[in-house]
Amino acid sequence: MGDGDFGRVFPNAGPVRRNCEHWGRFGSYAPRSRATVVAVMTSIANIVILTGAGISAESGIATFRGPGGLWEGHRVEDVCTPEALAADPALVHRFYDLRRAALSKVSPNAAHEALARLDREWPGALLIVTQNVDDLHERAGASRLLHMHGALKQALCAVCGERFEWYDALPPGTPCPACAAPALRPDIVFFGEIPYQMERIEAALAEADLFVSIGTSGAVYPAAGFVRMASAYGAETLELNLDRSDGSGWFDESRLGPAGQLVPQWVEQMLSRRPAR
Ligand code: OAD
Repeated sequence: MGDGDFGRVFPNAGPVRRNCEHWGRFGSYAPRSRATVVAVMTSIANIVILTGAGISAESGIATFRGPGGLWEGHRVEDVCTPEALAADPALVHRFYDLRRAALSKVSPNAAHEALARLDREWPGALLIVTQNVDDLHERAGASRLLHMHGALKQALCAVCGERFEWYDALPPGTPCPACAAPALRPDIVFFGEIPYQMERIEAALAEADLFVSIGTSGAVYPAAGFVRMASAYGAETLELNLDRSDGSGWFDESRLGPAGQLVPQWVEQMLSRRPAR
């Protein structure tokens, strides 16, 4: 996706809340200094946090584009498509069955725990938007959370659209408990499908004072475009990632290191300051 596609992803972006000049920054964006981000933290009330596979890496879940991103010789991205589901439903269902079963062998790490603490203690608005389909944020105790790419522990009926909590294997052809069609599939947003709750995410970004991206490569849109959208609406932007991501240049500040260290440090920093309201 190029810059010109931004309006297509967020067609209802609506009026900019403040700092209209930020829209003009897309062409010649100059990141603010680290000192600036820290300096304005006292005026931060509304926070949007985007998380990706990197936040679960220290729990033992392989990232998509790092080592271990291959599954039985398939690129993971090749399994996560509507075309793959149509061509080989047994393969795609088995892929997600294995991942669902593996959740019982992993636990939230210090980064999940720290975000859950921030969620509990931050008095301003806060939304954790995760691209991850694991359940580690909720198991750590986060509740102001949405799964924009779906969730392993849910099944979706391709016919009636109902969703169900699902903990066991999900063979192709499993009947829907609501409409009885043999059409239950993993409730995962495949490549080419529209992520969930985009309007809610966009509304939160429009109100955000601070946007923080944690453990994501910035390779997959629309999530990769959130930093520019948040910035356009006037938010400060901070990246916490193991190494520089595709989108690092768009952030006001990037801190590099493992999420298990960086996130607790950042949360401590935030909670030691009083939000503006
Ligand atoms: P990626 O695998 O693309 O990127 C993971 C990022 O996490 C990389 O930038 C790593 O450097 C970083 N990372 C790895 N270990 C880390 C650690 N311990 N601490 C901090 N950062 C670490 O995963 P995502 O960006 O989440 O979509 O991928 C986005 C989407 O692509 C996924 O949600 C999935 C995938 O295809 C769907 O399934 C629809």
